[in-house]
Amino acid sequence: MPLSEVGAAPVARLSTGIGELDRVLGGGLVPGALVLLGGSPGIGKSTLTNMVLGNLQQAGRKTLYVSGEESAEQIRLRAERLVLTGPSSATNVLRLENPPAPAQSALQVPVLAETDLDTVLDTLAAHAPAVCVIDSVQTLRAADMSGAPGSVGQVREVATRIMELAKAQGMAVILVGHVTKEGALAGPRVLEHLVDCVLQFEGERERPYRELRALKNRFGSTNEAGLFEMRGGGLVEVLDASARFVAEATRAPGSVVLAAMEGSRPLLVEVQALVAPSELEQPRRVVSGIDRNRLALVLAILARHGGEEFRPRPPADVFVNVVGGVRVDEPGCDLAIALAVASASRGVPIAGAAAGGGAPAPAACFGELGLTGELRWVGHPERRLQEAARHGIERVIAPAESGREACEVASLRAALAAALPTASSPEGEGARKGRVRAVSQAAALA
Ligand code: TYD
Ligand code: MG
Repeated sequence: MPLSEVGAAPVARLSTGIGELDRVLGGGLVPGALVLLGGSPGIGKSTLTNMVLGNLQQAGRKTLYVSGEESAEQIRLRAERLVLTGPSSATNVLRLENPPAPAQSALQVPVLAETDLDTVLDTLAAHAPAVCVIDSVQTLRAADMSGAPGSVGQVREVATRIMELAKAQGMAVILVGHVTKEGALAGPRVLEHLVDCVLQFEGERERPYRELRALKNRFGSTNEAGLFEMRGGGLVEVLDASARFVAEATRAPGSVVLAAMEGSRPLLVEVQALVAPSELEQPRRVVSGIDRNRLALVLAILARHGGEEFRPRPPADVFVNVVGGVRVDEPGCDLAIALAVASASRGVPIAGAAAGGGAPAPAACFGELGLTGELRWVGHPERRLQEAARHGIERVIAPAESGREACEVASLRAALAAALPTASSPEGEGARKGRVRAVSQAAALA
């Protein structure tokens, strides 16, 4: 039978009432599908899943929250804190200045505090919720299997039996799973092939921002990411993250704005670097929000192609941080890392467009660095430029062919000249004013 004749009804989706989550899921929860939600302890998994069930309950769906971790009292205490607007609200945005009535939907969610798998399955079969949360998959135990809860055998058995029931009943399930400090979904790693969707909740515990990404999705893209902020009333969607990060950008030496792509969405984030003399034989390379190997690569390119002064002698510790606990996972971040490190190492701020009177707007950048020091084109330059323009950033250092509004440069060297012009150099002034022709720029500096 040709595939065109295979009946494929459009997937009916259940909105979680949280726009950012729906988007990462590919449009909402799919009945009968299993979602694995991973994240380190304290990141907000229980809070997020409580909110989801509260919203669905309010929308008239049957829900069940199964907790093997906390007592019903503890769950209630959390639910009391949550401020939900539910799927009925037009924008799905939590409006803190206008909190809803105290009769909170999160408190209407039935809970089962239980660790025995058979009891949980019996309850799920009897209660037949449309959506259930298992918090967490590592705490349930199949009595007929050896091994402690959370062991590979147990976790696999628990998930398999819940999946069978979910498929049979058309119930959407969110399995919560803990991630170890090393970042591995310890037990749940073995579940990744089994479930339909793997979501990862990330962020730093001490900071309010939380990022939700899809690592696997049978019903949507894995490029999407959602941004939240942990507040007193639970998780709040951060709808204009760019505006926030640009406003918070320090513009100090070592800081640059990166026009990144988060899946299909442009996002402006601040990348910061610190370069300090090292006491260590092996200087430190500390990253947060970017890949360590990427920093190593960019430092090597900077040393080789950035000019004499970036050959680190004496050895220096280098720290690079994407502000706000956001993780950037695309080649377009190379240039931002290079410029932040260069700016930090020189102690000179990146040159933004000189705004009339007020503080200069920060400069933004994007682009991938090649091993020969060339700056390479990356996807969606027009959307990155638009996002920068929308937030008042006029000066965006970008690879060639990015767009006429960009300050296009062809090499790392030309980018450095454009971003960190020496006050006396006329080509630096030219770069400050507008579009730089990379070839002449590179020639002038050679
Ligand atoms: P929690 O959802 O319990 O994390 P996880 O299930 O991933 O272990 O949330 C943990 C933290 O969130 C906790 O330290 C308290 C904080 N929090 C808030 O700041 N505001 C809130 O409204 C709630 C419910 C929690
Ligand atoms: Mg929890």
